[in-house]
Amino acid sequence: FFRPVADGTSTPTAHRRRLTKISVIGTGNVGMAIAQTILTRDLADEIALVDALPDKLRGEMLDLQHAAAFLPRTRLVSDTDSAVTKGSDLVIITAGARQIPGETRLNLLQRNVSLFRKIVPAVAEHSPEALLLIVSNPVDILTYVAWKLSGFPASRVIGSGTNLDSSRFRFLLAEHLDVNAQDVQAYMVGEHGDSSVAVWSSVSVAGMPVLKSLQQSHSSFDEAALEGIRRAVVDSAYEVISLKGYTSWAIGYSVASLAASLLRDQRRIHPVSVLAAGFHGIADDHPVFISLPARLGRAGVLGVAEMELTEEEANKVRRSAKTLWQNCQLLGL
Ligand code: 2OP
Repeated sequence: FFRPVADGTSTPTAHRRRLTKISVIGTGNVGMAIAQTILTRDLADEIALVDALPDKLRGEMLDLQHAAAFLPRTRLVSDTDSAVTKGSDLVIITAGARQIPGETRLNLLQRNVSLFRKIVPAVAEHSPEALLLIVSNPVDILTYVAWKLSGFPASRVIGSGTNLDSSRFRFLLAEHLDVNAQDVQAYMVGEHGDSSVAVWSSVSVAGMPVLKSLQQSHSSFDEAALEGIRRAVVDSAYEVISLKGYTSWAIGYSVASLAASLLRDQRRIHPVSVLAAGFHGIADDHPVFISLPARLGRAGVLGVAEMELTEEEANKVRRSAKTLWQNCQLLGL
């Protein structure tokens, strides 16, 4: 339908820029919520989807392609073979068994490690320069597994970690204070799971420390109340899983926000699972991935915040790190 302009200077390939490619491994509810959010946020020129089930995979790809007229232009490709991910800038791994109601994330470990042994070396080979973003659970241990199996530097291997728990925490605090969750600065750190740590000492709204004012205004606002809120954050996933069978939308937005910070070099701070040896008294020779606030950009993890934790908070982080490290050692990687 179109012809180049007459002087011949404008060939279709003359100004082709480097395209951004994101691969999503696993097209279950989580993988598809992530892919859909990435599409609507216009973060990639190409998205490659990979899954072991060919019909489900093709169905998901077609269903998204059919929205082309309503979305920014993004090429969608899919295959059961991970060669389709070749040349990715970012590979997001969501594949694996998920929790059934009542099951803990740690229960999934053996099944998902076997799967990672197949997936990670292959995607690392196809995209040796990529950033790896791990979402499958138990995410902290699987991020360690992906780091080992990929041979990538730790700065390019990131677990989605407590970015989601922190959003749940900010949501609950925002409801309580009747403000926008985006104006609540609050971090959950440590394990993405039952032992995650709420960093009460750093919670603030508009630069005002929240803990002190809550304790002054509600005489009943004591340790038990704080633990109640942390517990509510931890229980959020269990509640959603018992009600709808899985969680998907919030993890979709959480991971798309990480993809944006990474690929657009935003240098935003996100609590994500990073190599935490040497932080908060975690032994230097205990390579373990847990969530700490990290500065993210195009090169991956640009730095980890040396947050001030109370002695009790630091103790809790060290305890989770120790349990996770022990679990990692058992894998013999
Ligand atoms: C979540 O927290 C289950 O890890 C998943 O939503």
